[in-house]
Amino acid sequence: MGIDNDVYDRLGATWWDEDNPLNVLHGSFTPARMRYFRRVLDRLGISGGRLLDVGCGAGFLSEEFARAGFAVTGIDPSPVAIAAARAHAEARRLTVEYLVGVGEQLRIDDASVDVVACCDVLEHVPDVDRVIAEVARVLRPGGVFLYDTISRTRRSRLLVIRAMQEWRWTRITDAEIHDWAMFITPAELSATLDGHGLAVVETVGLAPRAGLAAMVRDLLRVRRGRMTYGELSRRMDFGEVDDLRVSYLGYAVRSG
Ligand SMILES: C[S@@+](CC[C@H](N)C(=O)[O-])C[C@H]1O[C@@H](n2cnc3c(N)ncnc32)[C@H](O)[C@@H]1O
Repeated sequence: MGIDNDVYDRLGATWWDEDNPLNVLHGSFTPARMRYFRRVLDRLGISGGRLLDVGCGAGFLSEEFARAGFAVTGIDPSPVAIAAARAHAEARRLTVEYLVGVGEQLRIDDASVDVVACCDVLEHVPDVDRVIAEVARVLRPGGVFLYDTISRTRRSRLLVIRAMQEWRWTRITDAEIHDWAMFITPAELSATLDGHGLAVVETVGLAPRAGLAAMVRDLLRVRRGRMTYGELSRRMDFGEVDDLRVSYLGYAVRSG
């Protein structure tokens, strides 16, 4: 089984629409991530500066960071997603610079960025080590790397691969959005970050708090066209949990 990253070109134009499967990333997922990232940035006394959103998609997080006062550059390989991101930000009179490009080769100067965000992206990239090397290169000493990704466990295989991608009555799309073999455990990510001078300070779990039965019921409703993906995400009620077995969030600080 491979990963279908072309899905972001096929579905990217309407990413912000509630009935687009990619909108599951928004609903309660974006607010949960931002609550955590805001707390981290507050703790570190960072309230502005240059922020790079690697794998920004249609800009769910880029827009939030722009509203929080950062000068944001969003980078993504999908020209369709970048066009949607530009149009959405423009319509809201938000200033965000959007570029087409890959995380493995950032066209950004060394040590020129205060914060890099890379969210729900590392499990999609062909070369995680190169992406992290690039993140470390562009961050200034003391700069912060904010991330979330998915761990490679039996539970993530059941929930993210089987339930959300393979089972006919519960899957959110027919595309192979994820490949279990590309998921990264917190220990593997920590070792890779460490190898590039990025010290992990904290890792927390991110999960639906609605309960498994409610989640499966809602997935069935979405599949029958009785609920939008945005509503599904809100009802899943994503938030911080102690359990790191599926999605997790965290941050690392650039040494030097
Ligand atoms: C699940 S989406 C996450 C979008 C956004 N970060 C968010 O959380 O709302 C994954 C994104 O990673 C992007 N992507 C895939 N390969 C990439 C690469 N090599 N470098 C950077 N981004 C990549 C895709 O185009 C897609 O927009």
